[in-house]
Amino acid sequence: NSVTAFAPATCANVSIGFDILGFSFDGAGDFVTLKKRVDGKIIIDNIECEEKLPLDPNKNTASVVIQKLCEDLNIQNGFSISIKKGIALGSGMGGSAASAVAALTAFNAFLKKPLSLQELSNYALLGEEAACGQKHADNIVPCLYGGITLIQSTDPIHVVELPVPNLHCVLIHPYLKVETKHARGVLCTSVPLKECIKQSANTASFIAALYQANNALLKKSAQDFIIEPQRAHLVPGFYEVKKAALDSGALVSSFSGSGPTLFALAETKEMALTIAENMQNTFLAHEIKTEFWISKMNS
Ligand code: HSE
Repeated sequence: NSVTAFAPATCANVSIGFDILGFSFDGAGDFVTLKKRVDGKIIIDNIECEEKLPLDPNKNTASVVIQKLCEDLNIQNGFSISIKKGIALGSGMGGSAASAVAALTAFNAFLKKPLSLQELSNYALLGEEAACGQKHADNIVPCLYGGITLIQSTDPIHVVELPVPNLHCVLIHPYLKVETKHARGVLCTSVPLKECIKQSANTASFIAALYQANNALLKKSAQDFIIEPQRAHLVPGFYEVKKAALDSGALVSSFSGSGPTLFALAETKEMALTIAENMQNTFLAHEIKTEFWISKMNS
């Protein structure tokens, strides 16, 4: 009568793929437990988290998606939901997606005929809409599918699972908060054709690099001309921290999702650790404390 599921953190955008690329990061994540109730109610009875979060079921992505599923599938019983957050909200590590996906995965275990990943994606998207006002799929999809994913279309959802590079990932979370809604709000809604061409070339080359397992091409193509410059001001010292990562041997470094977390990709675990420490010291020079995780990219 009770099921617990884990959903990993995710790094959306992967520098050049705004809203279309993302990968899962097993080093951190959320746990959600669903317990059946006979009274048909959906309530959140506990959220274990560093900050106090509202228990209102209309304000949490986990309960929002369960409410909708119960309605659509005409499920009579209710659920008590408890959430153990390993991902800080507003960190850029896909916290709202992880809570929704963990809840959906637990819910699926109660069904005689479980829903497909594609069906679950559509529900998880509703959670993102509730969280930031827009249905971006680049956290929920890698969270559900694992590995590194390309979202060819969100309506209908069409996912391409890409080859996962043999690399280690650093996620470094400065203790700042950037709401995705705000970080989307600062973006211009149109892009000059020239920029669009440069960005498309890099995105296409990045995908080719994954298929060719070509780290030199990966490094060359992971340069975002459109989104990163518009968001850099949201994190003090952003360019210095990114430089610290690249100077320490990172192939790629940028915001994880809408930030403030940054990610960096490295060829070895040892390099990843050096990169993380140098990024951490650079943040410290700006009097910003951080926490970091290192995990091998996995399929
Ligand atoms: N693609 C989204 C954004 C990801 O950058 O706004 C948010 O985690």
